[in-house]
Amino acid sequence: MAKLPHQLQREHSHRVEALFSSLDAGRLTLRNRLAVAPMTRVSATAEGMPTQHMSDYYTAFAEGGFGLVVTEGLYTDKAFSQGYLFQPGLTEARQRDGWRPIVERVHDAGSRMVAQLMHAGALSQGSAYSAGTRGPSAIRPKGQQMAFYRGSGTYPVPTAMSFEEIAQAVKGFADAALLAREAASTAWRSMLRTAICSTNSSRRASIFATIAMAVPSRDGCA
Ligand SMILES: Cc1cc2nc3c(=O)[nH]c(=O)nc-3n(C[C@H](O)[C@H](O)[C@H](O)COP(=O)(O)O)c2cc1C
Repeated sequence: MAKLPHQLQREHSHRVEALFSSLDAGRLTLRNRLAVAPMTRVSATAEGMPTQHMSDYYTAFAEGGFGLVVTEGLYTDKAFSQGYLFQPGLTEARQRDGWRPIVERVHDAGSRMVAQLMHAGALSQGSAYSAGTRGPSAIRPKGQQMAFYRGSGTYPVPTAMSFEEIAQAVKGFADAALLAREAASTAWRSMLRTAICSTNSSRRASIFATIAMAVPSRDGCA
């Protein structure tokens, strides 16, 4: 039997209520279930430093009521992870410190923030650090580079990464995850220093696993 309008309305308002109820997501308590998807905007400096423009953009989402703000994809090392020119990075203390006031503003507006860590791999189309691209295999990605991210033409054929380069890329994620945590809280700083000094790979892996990571866009994948 078809549902009566008032039944539909009740179900609808129940669902809307759920959307605005708080959520415990791992270590984060979110005020609601609205999250901003990661969106690359290439509005950092050429050195991957976040800008005032970015700060205003992320704060606007928080002030608009989103419970969770996910950053655009941040590159994780200065080897081959950068995907686009003017993409922000999280590879050094300076970049971490650039994120601190942004995280603070987002927190002050009542939202939580998660860093999306991203290695562009074969889909990289611009880097301040390296020429050429690295990927798991020397296979040209399908499709065309994205013009609005300053790319043009087909993707180059990447050089296949050595095991050592893959290990370095993994370490880049772990290091960037630690920087993300440091950017979010001064209280973490001393703990993290201890973690870094006494860490072994499994300790790092567990820290690493708590941070959201980018799954590169499927565009261009074979
Ligand atoms: C301008 C733009 C930039 C994006 N940048 C990223 C990104 O940095 N990382 C990512 O994982 N997805 C990125 N995406 C994908 C979005 O996060 C989202 O998954 C996609 O827009 C599909 O969302 P929808 O199903 O709500 O339309 C981007 C999308 C847009 C439109």
